[in-house]
Amino acid sequence: MARRMGSLLVILVLLAAAPLVAGRSVPLPSASQQQAYKKPIQTQRPFNIAHRGASGEFPEETVEAYHRAIEVGADFIETDVSATKDGKLICFHDVTLDDTTDVVNYTKFADRKRTYEVERVNVTGFFTVDFTLEEIQSLRINQRFDTRDPSYNGKFGIITFDEFIQIALNADRVVGIYPECKNPVFMNQHVKWPEGKTFEDEFTETLLKHGYKGKYLSKDWQKQPLLIQSFAPTALKKISKLTDSPLVFLIDDVTVNTQDNNLTFAEITSNEYFKYLKSIGVVGLGPWKDTIAVPDAQNFIQTPTDFVARAHAHGLQVHPYTFRNENSRLKYNYHLDPYVEYSFWTNEIGVDGFFTDFPRTLHMYQEWTSPLNVTKAKSAAELISKIADLVDSYTN
Ligand SMILES: *[C@@H]1O[C@H](CO)[C@@H](O)[C@H](O)[C@H]1NC(C)=O
Ligand SMILES: *[C@@H]1O[C@H](CO)[C@@H](O)[C@H](O)[C@H]1NC(C)=O
Ligand SMILES: *[C@@H]1O[C@H](CO)[C@@H](O)[C@H](O)[C@H]1NC(C)=O
Ligand SMILES: *[C@@H]1O[C@H](CO)[C@@H](O)[C@H](O)[C@H]1NC(C)=O
Repeated sequence: MARRMGSLLVILVLLAAAPLVAGRSVPLPSASQQQAYKKPIQTQRPFNIAHRGASGEFPEETVEAYHRAIEVGADFIETDVSATKDGKLICFHDVTLDDTTDVVNYTKFADRKRTYEVERVNVTGFFTVDFTLEEIQSLRINQRFDTRDPSYNGKFGIITFDEFIQIALNADRVVGIYPECKNPVFMNQHVKWPEGKTFEDEFTETLLKHGYKGKYLSKDWQKQPLLIQSFAPTALKKISKLTDSPLVFLIDDVTVNTQDNNLTFAEITSNEYFKYLKSIGVVGLGPWKDTIAVPDAQNFIQTPTDFVARAHAHGLQVHPYTFRNENSRLKYNYHLDPYVEYSFWTNEIGVDGFFTDFPRTLHMYQEWTSPLNVTKAKSAAELISKIADLVDSYTN
């Protein structure tokens, strides 16, 4: 108890001194993320990556989903970047608007229905690339899954990539962004940008414009953490020539070839390919979790493959997708308990990050099982961060 009081006293004294350490007093709310002191991103335990925001709770990729993700402890907010007809970048997962918006309700858009080939399959619907940003912004988003609270359906709109970035930059602690360069082949086929620019150019320029740069864990990176993801190896290659920001290669099901250069699962998960990925600035892999712990017909996972061990041997992180709380999405090995699933992937498989629709559940699991260590601080900024951790641990 005495020790606790002692540390509290130290904290209070240091907190009083903190503005002086930072060199200024009251931070402006949104003016400059560089100036105000912010609690840094944690790097001690697997990353909590809020997949499309807190999308288990709010309709995906909305302001509300992202705010909630930040509020409940996500390290990164994740998004899919797609394009509109007029070349604007938006946060939207599908190529068509049909499944998660109210587009069918607008008679003025009834004639926009099209059939296009997307990744070697013909798809019919209302495509984002046939709507201007202004038209897209007039639509409202619905929950993707009927297992989720429908009371937010029809309430929120689609946001731009710029708006998404602003949400992260305006957070009261350092929150990373994890944008996906979505369907680049399709976007480049259907949208034309001035001066012959490509989707990858627009995507990367947006990140650079907002100050995102620097290799994984560099000073610049820690200030504005960024992981760039894509299923398309050629897009990652192009992006690697435009920025030194770290890349993550996403890997689909074993039956799906890559969308751009038609490589098989076996080809892209070989040791040779891991070496190649590493050489173009890829720091991690984002596989579908069922390709690592393959489920059987009875909904039990089988012995996990050596994928994670091989990736780690090549110095590549592994961030599998997607972790979801619903009973219908949990394998029976986990006793229908998402905590048991997180425990298995943390301790038995040893992954480095989780794409989760429920960042709150992952955060609570991690706080419960592996609270962040308060160690000897090396710098003033680090010291303040440790103090913030300590204060958190007293107030929570
Ligand atoms: C905290 O430190 C202990 C002892 O060094 C270590 O076992 C544990 O894994 C650390 N926790 C985290 C979240 O890094
Ligand atoms: C279309 O509008 C009706 C009436 O407001 C609403 O009940 C329905 O959910 C909307 N459809 C979609 C797909 O949002
Ligand atoms: C898509 O439809 C077009 C027109 O009917 C057809 O020519 C093409 O082969 C189809 N593509 C696929 C992948 O089925
Ligand atoms: C893609 O590769 C598969 C073999 O994995 C082959 O059967 C198919 O024809 C290829 N498709 C194209 C469009 O090259």
